[in-house]
Amino acid sequence: MTSSELAREAFPQKIKRKIKQTLGPWGVFFDGFLRNPVMVGSIVPSSRFTINRMLSRVDWDNCKLFVEYGPGVGTFCRPVLDRMRRDAMLIVIDTNPRFIEYLRRTITDSRFVAVNGSAADVEEIVRAHGHEKADYVLSGLPFSTLPDGVGPAIAAATYRVIRKGGAFLVYQFTPRARTFMAKHFKRIDNAIEPINVPPCFLYWGWKDEDDAA
Ligand SMILES: C[S@@+](CC[C@H](N)C(=O)[O-])C[C@H]1O[C@@H](n2cnc3c(N)ncnc32)[C@H](O)[C@@H]1O
Repeated sequence: MTSSELAREAFPQKIKRKIKQTLGPWGVFFDGFLRNPVMVGSIVPSSRFTINRMLSRVDWDNCKLFVEYGPGVGTFCRPVLDRMRRDAMLIVIDTNPRFIEYLRRTITDSRFVAVNGSAADVEEIVRAHGHEKADYVLSGLPFSTLPDGVGPAIAAATYRVIRKGGAFLVYQFTPRARTFMAKHFKRIDNAIEPINVPPCFLYWGWKDEDDAA
């Protein structure tokens, strides 16, 4: 390759790097989307309206373990940590190693654990960190674009890992996630958050005391 060909090839890389630096976490997220649009499923992180509404139903005084699937660049992580007890733990699970590396570098809270893995393995991950059950699980996974069988497997494992009285919190651009949740969670509350790109569906699946274990 000649030096002028090399320079031509490097130019778009340079622009990409500049855009990433200027946009900060949004740039890291957008880059993640460009590399794997199916798994990331969105071009911008959730809005603060979505975050506040989704988390408003959590009983923080009785939350010792909060799990998040698909944290991306951590849009929910800081708001969750701000609300969480000092002795509680937040475990986030993402298949994208770049997001996990970014989160480990930027969030230094001792209650925070970032795991590179799949939400389908939540039970092993929770046990590996010294817990039997999670109080709440939050999901930003693109359920509608996950490979066949992955969505149902994640919904089943999530139901098993949540303690009675806890809940599965889900936000999604399509109502598809509700279908997976409804196989396990008898009581599901829902809302729509219009101030988000695009507007999204919010679900709270409750594991009640008289539900199956
Ligand atoms: C829509 S993005 C989440 C955005 C972020 N939570 C927010 O609020 O802005 C979806 C995330 O799910 C992750 N993901 C996809 N499949 C996954 C799986 N099976 N387990 C864990 N994370 C997964 C992607 O890497 C991506 O970070």
